[in-house]
Amino acid sequence: MRMYDIIMKKRNGGELSEEEIRFFVRGYTAGEIPDYQAAALMMAIYFRKMSERETFALTMAMAESGDRLDLSAIKGVKVDKHSTGGVGDKTSLALAPMVAACGVPVAKMSGRGLGHTGGTIDKLESFAGFTTALTTKQFLTNVNEIGIAIMGQTADLAPADKKLYALRDVTATVDNMSLIASSIMSKKLAAGADAIVLDVKTGSGAFMKTEEDAFALAEEMVKIGRNAGRNTSAVISDMDQPLGCAVGNALEVAEAIETLKGNGPADFVELCLTLGSRMLVAGGAAGEDAEAREMLSSVIGDGSALDKLAAFVEAQGGDARAVYDTELLPKASIVEPAVSFCDGYVRSIACDEIGICSLILGGGRETKESGIDLSVGLVLKKKVGDQVTKGEPLAYLYANDQGKLSQARERFLNAYVIGGEEPKKRPFIKGVLR
Ligand code: URA
Repeated sequence: MRMYDIIMKKRNGGELSEEEIRFFVRGYTAGEIPDYQAAALMMAIYFRKMSERETFALTMAMAESGDRLDLSAIKGVKVDKHSTGGVGDKTSLALAPMVAACGVPVAKMSGRGLGHTGGTIDKLESFAGFTTALTTKQFLTNVNEIGIAIMGQTADLAPADKKLYALRDVTATVDNMSLIASSIMSKKLAAGADAIVLDVKTGSGAFMKTEEDAFALAEEMVKIGRNAGRNTSAVISDMDQPLGCAVGNALEVAEAIETLKGNGPADFVELCLTLGSRMLVAGGAAGEDAEAREMLSSVIGDGSALDKLAAFVEAQGGDARAVYDTELLPKASIVEPAVSFCDGYVRSIACDEIGICSLILGGGRETKESGIDLSVGLVLKKKVGDQVTKGEPLAYLYANDQGKLSQARERFLNAYVIGGEEPKKRPFIKGVLR
């Protein structure tokens, strides 16, 4: 088999066989196929697309290219959740304790990543002393004893995807539906869960800007998961404005804690209940979504989800007192409002711009090496559809540097569109693929 022939076949619109795809993935991961040939194949796939069979073969070959987590020592059905990401996405912080409090084990591998804020691990480090450096044995024991554990990505999961994603990033071949679906699902399959619930975001702060694309991606990923024998479902949710109100690491932790106390913002609570229901049904703890929603609401109402978060934080070395007293979380030295210049209704918010404000304040990483300030960020006081009067705060900005604050405030105010007419309400959950 020759890489040249594989590239030409795809370039001419042919369908690659499983053997050809495996040959490519194996050779590229081993460094035997050079970047220029892999890039040519990615570009051919970008233009010619892949069939369902090809997409599945690529996913499996990448999933099997490195370590695979063995979660069989954990009792019960293991359900994983994946979000395609967005601004203010703190879902795992509230959802994991809610689901675990209902009896479904949560065994997660999480990352740090680049972006507007840190990843789940960075956010959790807002609890002083918290660590994700667990041995596999400790990780499995914690899941069995407490119901949740989160480990840093130590295992070499799907290295083929890591290498290919980096190549796609610099060759303008990221935004192909089949390549995105296979990339995400290869990592999820290697992470070992029995069932997968996907949260696919759509809107100005999401990877998929249109609902049509978000549904197409969700369908493609659900098909892959099911073909791989995993119970897979997807929720398509809005990311045309930030999720909830808090954007920034410790601020998001505080909002997740408030949500577990029953005081969460409506959109965030709805997302946790919708995703959580899918997880409880997949995990066999509930027969249907309506029953699952009641269970999830009751673990918020009786405080057991909050206690579950505290037990999890403590088991991983963190200061669990902050779960009950958020004043103990990292605090910014400057807190100032950004006020509206006019009366009217918030008609839209440029979601990705709000993310950039958090980055400017120091809440995210621009390069893998950059440090991150856990205390900074924004808390929105007005969201789309809200009425505002001139001089009223649209948000509070949390900063440790006056220059960064001024820069972020200017950008923030340009992200809001305020007009005289109340905008039409749009559903937050766009659909669920069961
Ligand atoms: N996220 C991934 O993990 N892979 C992609 O290709 C795009 C987004």
